[in-house]
Amino acid sequence: MAEKPTLQPHVLIFPLPLQGPVNCMLKVAELFCLAGFHVTFLNTDHVHRRLLRHSHLHSRFAPFPTFRFKTVSDGLPEDHPRSGDRLMDIFDALEAVTKPLFRGMLISGVFSSEAGVPVTCIIADGAFDFALDAAKEVGIPLIYFDTISPCCVWVHLCIPKLIESGELPFKGNDLDTPITSVPGMEGFLRRRDLPIYCRAGDVSIPVVQIILAEDRQLPKAHGLILNTFEEIEGPILSHIRSLCPNLYSIGPLQERLKIRLAEETTSPPASSNGLWEEDGGCMTWLDAQPLRSVIYVSFGSLAVTRTADLKEFWHGLVNSGKRFLWVIRDNGVAGEDGDRQIPAEFSDGRKEGGYIARWAPQEEVLAHPAVGGFLTHSGWNSTLESIVAGVPMLCWPYFFDQQVNSRFVSEVWKIGLDMKDLCDRVVIEKMVNDLMDVRRDELVCSAENMAMLAKRSVSEGGSSLCNLNRLIEDIRSMSV
Ligand code: UDX
Repeated sequence: MAEKPTLQPHVLIFPLPLQGPVNCMLKVAELFCLAGFHVTFLNTDHVHRRLLRHSHLHSRFAPFPTFRFKTVSDGLPEDHPRSGDRLMDIFDALEAVTKPLFRGMLISGVFSSEAGVPVTCIIADGAFDFALDAAKEVGIPLIYFDTISPCCVWVHLCIPKLIESGELPFKGNDLDTPITSVPGMEGFLRRRDLPIYCRAGDVSIPVVQIILAEDRQLPKAHGLILNTFEEIEGPILSHIRSLCPNLYSIGPLQERLKIRLAEETTSPPASSNGLWEEDGGCMTWLDAQPLRSVIYVSFGSLAVTRTADLKEFWHGLVNSGKRFLWVIRDNGVAGEDGDRQIPAEFSDGRKEGGYIARWAPQEEVLAHPAVGGFLTHSGWNSTLESIVAGVPMLCWPYFFDQQVNSRFVSEVWKIGLDMKDLCDRVVIEKMVNDLMDVRRDELVCSAENMAMLAKRSVSEGGSSLCNLNRLIEDIRSMSV
């Protein structure tokens, strides 16, 4: 009797429609395709249009006939800025519009029928508490992928404990008061290192309710994927496992994908997952700069910086005398009178030894030998990319997981400096010089050691590769 051909698994991947989450979920999608899976990637219409406009997505996934995109509305008008200062609009629209649409698509079976293969497993962003309820309704296992930093995932899971112990809401306004209710972070976590919404003085605000809803759902899913590696967050991962025992720490994903693609005889063209047009001039400009002479400056895809703060950074960078490659997104400026233009005096930065771009090929920039430091907002993807590149960081966190991340970079991993809650041209000049000169040797030594650990974890025998293989086999076992 011929054996029934085993159907390859079909995974439905559903990221939060933001640059960071989409970026790392596309990488795990490609790794699943290389493992022979069917993959349906559910983007929002808006994100999909921008990806098609600014990246070579179709050529990248052309080698995989079992890969397909599907789209769903994010519930916002096309001209909505979808920037960090309007984040709650995004979450409100996802709840009101995308949630019922997603449930309807699952119940209709459209993902399975269009692929011709039943959906084996759903991988949803940890921010989608509704996804688990919908998955249970149709009897499909769901694995959450929380794309923020694991150290912040653990802080989020401890929010109920912080409230119960009275550490939240804050009593008084001393932000340097130590926090004692987050196991594993005693001794270095302060109030100012908690997510910025903890400063609101009210735990009934919507964003805290979203976090508490996530806290309830994460432990109920089949498993939890995190883009990190044991060597940098072992103790924190053990704490998370106490609530989410089936944990897959499989990062840094960008490094695993690079290694895996190099094993292919014909690798598809490298392609960014950018939602903006990359300024190719950055790399040409970097080629003309001396070794490790440039500080790369980028505050991610959501941060919106006040014009007054931008001017402090401008004068701090120029006065430091260091060369700088500075990304200022077209929706990244908050002017006093609603003006979102880059201040005129910035020009293009050339005569001050800098280069200003609207969007850069960040992973290539960080890997460029001319780059010696990264002034970052501490978004998790940027932090991991800097770790992999062995580039020390100067952290100026904006919101969400970034406050925790910057504290870990400076106090736990010692691969950078934390400029949290400061924005003054004199401080910026000093800290840029500390990063690029005064403390450079110690920071580069730590950063290069961590880069080695990161690469080892996703190579043969590494912890992250073992976890990724276990994830792939677990999903395969769901499809038999
Ligand atoms: C958001 C949150 O802000 C962040 O804290 C969370 O960890 C993930 O979701 P974002 O602000 O976009 O992410 O920051 P980050 O996680 O660093 O992701 C930015 C991505 O955009 C990175 O992968 C980076 O390589 C890319 N990028 C950024 C570019 O490709 N070019 C640029 O010019 C700037």
